[in-house]
Amino acid sequence: MHFQLTEEHLMIQQAARDFAQTELLPGVIERDDHQKFPADGIRKMGELGLMGMMVSPEYHGSGMDTISYVLAMEEISKIDASASVCMSVNNSLVCWGLEKFGTPEQKEKYLKRLATGEMIGAFCLSEPEAGSDATSQKTTAIDMGDHYLLNGTKNWITNGNSASVYLVIAQTDVAKGHRGINVLIVEKGMPGFIVGKKEDKMGIRGSDTHSLMFTDVKVPKENRIGEDGFGFKFAMKTLSGGRIGIAAQALGIASGALELAAKYATERKSFGKPIGEHQGVAFKLADMATKIEAARLLVLKSAWLKDQGLPFDKESAMAKLYASEVAMEATTEAVQIHGGYGYVKEYHVERLMRDAKITQIYEGTSEIQRIVISRAVLNEAAGI
Ligand code: CAA
Repeated sequence: MHFQLTEEHLMIQQAARDFAQTELLPGVIERDDHQKFPADGIRKMGELGLMGMMVSPEYHGSGMDTISYVLAMEEISKIDASASVCMSVNNSLVCWGLEKFGTPEQKEKYLKRLATGEMIGAFCLSEPEAGSDATSQKTTAIDMGDHYLLNGTKNWITNGNSASVYLVIAQTDVAKGHRGINVLIVEKGMPGFIVGKKEDKMGIRGSDTHSLMFTDVKVPKENRIGEDGFGFKFAMKTLSGGRIGIAAQALGIASGALELAAKYATERKSFGKPIGEHQGVAFKLADMATKIEAARLLVLKSAWLKDQGLPFDKESAMAKLYASEVAMEATTEAVQIHGGYGYVKEYHVERLMRDAKITQIYEGTSEIQRIVISRAVLNEAAGI
């Protein structure tokens, strides 16, 4: 076992760090204020190869490993978690799902343009009454022979308006339960598909989160991914990898907060010395750094397992659970260390604290991660 990143990993990390500083930091407070999607930043991220990092070059991706992806996700998330959630959904849920399970025609038509960021993708599972309980899909995709007739509403969809390709999970055969669910590729502009209201969110305000409405949308049969009834498993498998991306996002938010707090603690003086020399602040920094490093190890381990082709469902859930809790804790402490300055927008840490909260909610709440982890632990104990 060794803990050394390769030269290539270090180069990718540095490139993402430089990009975030020069391209995403300017205007990040204004975009958050005005809920403005970082369109320019995302376009440039596409040009840099960050939107299809793990897609093979055959489909115009960067052909990198998951370790590279989490290193880049951490750096982008330190500065702009609204940009990184767009990156995460496009990479882990949409591109990965299409490359792994799509037909050659689907990859040719959609994946090539998604991998370069020319098109953005969205993953549409959540519904007004089906968030954590993902098997209870009310959206229906009725089999009409050569096409499906799609009806229903999706909620909380990341990239809801900025996307042009949507992977929509829907129930085809209620009697078959989760085995009667399909995943369909839906294009913006298909008749009957309407992008609904934009959510006015507490955090990741630059990302565009929308509800989507489908009324008698005719989706050609060739737009189904996988066999009939594969939709729920598709969602579970992609989300399992997606959780590594969101864990890396949470890690980035936490380590961004630590960097800002540590810098502030060397500059700000009280009672005749920098506040970092007061134990009350120093010990907070020590705890933040320790927990962030532990989270980083979980994130890297789950990425490594995925790269090795080994099972990673439990580990990705652990990484997401722990990193998102550390993100909440570290950002709260960073605000505290900044005192009154931490409570105003100019110092960035209040935004990081608001952004951290969503990492405990999306791609499965902390409670869902605990379900996944505890089931794995119990199965291991039972020898299953
Ligand atoms: N890989 C492959 N198959 C899996 C799987 C996995 N990781 N997890 C479950 N399955 C399969 C099971 O084997 C089972 O199949 P069989 O019956 O054929 O054996 C089937 O799926 C049903 O599994 P469960 O009985 O375990 O299902 P459950 O109803 O108990 O739910 C759950 C399991 C883990 C709670 C699941 O519903 C879940 O993950 N819910 C959370 C959903 C979620 O993350 N939503 C977030 C929305 S997406 C998002 O946030 C993106 C964004 O915009 C940022």
